[in-house]
Amino acid sequence: MPGRTTVLVTGGAGFIGSHTCVELLDHGYDVVVVDDYSNSSPGALERVAKIAARPPVAVHEIDLLDRRALSRVFDEHHIDAVIHFAAKKAVGESVELPVEYYDTNVGGTTALLRAMHDHGVHRLVFSSSCSIYGNATKVPLTEEDPAGPTNPYATSKWLCEQVLADTCRHLPRLSVLVLRYFNPVGAHPSGLLGEVPRGAVPNNVMPYLARVAAGRLPKLSVFGDDYPTTDGTGVRDYIHVMDVAEGHRVALEHLVGENGMRVFNLGTGQGTSVLELVAAFQRASGTSIPYEITGRRPGDVPALVADPSAVARAWNWTTTRDLTAMCEDVWRFQELNPSGYPN
Ligand code: WQD
Repeated sequence: MPGRTTVLVTGGAGFIGSHTCVELLDHGYDVVVVDDYSNSSPGALERVAKIAARPPVAVHEIDLLDRRALSRVFDEHHIDAVIHFAAKKAVGESVELPVEYYDTNVGGTTALLRAMHDHGVHRLVFSSSCSIYGNATKVPLTEEDPAGPTNPYATSKWLCEQVLADTCRHLPRLSVLVLRYFNPVGAHPSGLLGEVPRGAVPNNVMPYLARVAAGRLPKLSVFGDDYPTTDGTGVRDYIHVMDVAEGHRVALEHLVGENGMRVFNLGTGQGTSVLELVAAFQRASGTSIPYEITGRRPGDVPALVADPSAVARAWNWTTTRDLTAMCEDVWRFQELNPSGYPN
C-alpha cells in the first residue's frame, strides 16, 4: 500500500507511534497524526520530521473523545487506513484511575470506530498488549492462550478486542489486525527518537536502567528474585521498537483484500530476565549498573514470552534486532538526549 496511501496514526507522538510514523514515511505512506500530548511531546514529531524521508502531512492536537474534532480530521484528509496507538498504558496508574482508563482506552476506540464508519474507512491496526494474558503460567504464549487481564489497563485492552470483534461481525467490510505487543524497548538508531517517560522516575525497567547508567538515578531496584525463573528475577520478551514499527507497516499491507479480525502476538520469542537485561545494558553502555534486590512489585507475573510463529507464518516476517541492539540504541538516545526532548 505505499505511494499515495494515507494512514491516520492516533497517538503518533508517543514512543511506538512516533517510531511507526518514521517507518511509514520512509516507505512512501502519507501520515496524518492525532495526539492530545497527554503522555507525549510535540518534540517527538519534530524529530520524526527530521529523521524521516518526508514529514507527516498534518498533525492535529485533539482528544479522540472530541467527536466533532475527530470527524473534522476525517473530513479534511482522505484516510485509507488507521493505526490506533492512543491510550493510557500504565498498569499501576490504571488501578488508581480505572474510569479514566476505560473512558480513554475503550471510549477512544469506539469514538474512532464511529468516525471510521461515518467516513467509509475500513482498515484498522489496533495496539493491544500481552498484559491481557495476565498471570500466564505457560511460556511461550500463543494467540489461542486464554486472556486473564488482572488490572484495568489490561482489561481495557481486552474489552477493546471484544468491541472490535463484535464490530467486525456487524460490518463485513471492516478489516482489523490486533497486535498484542510484549515489551517494546529501544530507540531509533539515529539517537534522535526514543522513549521519554513522563516524570522523573520511569515505571518501566529499560528507561530506568538508562537513567541509572547515566547517573541520573542511583540504582535499580530489582523487583524480586524469588520467581520460578532461571535466576529468580522476572522474565520478559523485549522487542525492539523498530521491529514493532516495521511490524505495523507489514500489518498495513495485510489489511488489503482481507476482512474480519485477526489477532497476532508481537514479540521475539526470546525471554530475558531482569539480571540478564542489566548485564546486557552494562555491556552495551560500558557502565556499571548498581542494583538492589527488593520485594516483588504487586501485579507482576513471573514470565511473559511470545510464541511469534503465527506472524511468521502469516506474514513471512520476523523480528531482526537483538537485545544488544536494543540496549545500544537506548544508550545512544540517553546520551544524546539526557533530558528527553527540548522544552
Ligand atoms: C519488566 C520487568 C519487572 C522496573 C510493561 C507495561 C505494560 C505493557 C508491557 C504495553 C518486570 C522488572 C521493572 C523496575 C524491575 N506495555 N522491573 N525494576 O511490567 O512487563 O509491562 O510492558 O502494553 O503496560 O507496563 O514492564 O518494564 O515495568 O517490567 O525489576 O524498576 O522488569 O518486575 O519483571 P512490564 P516493566
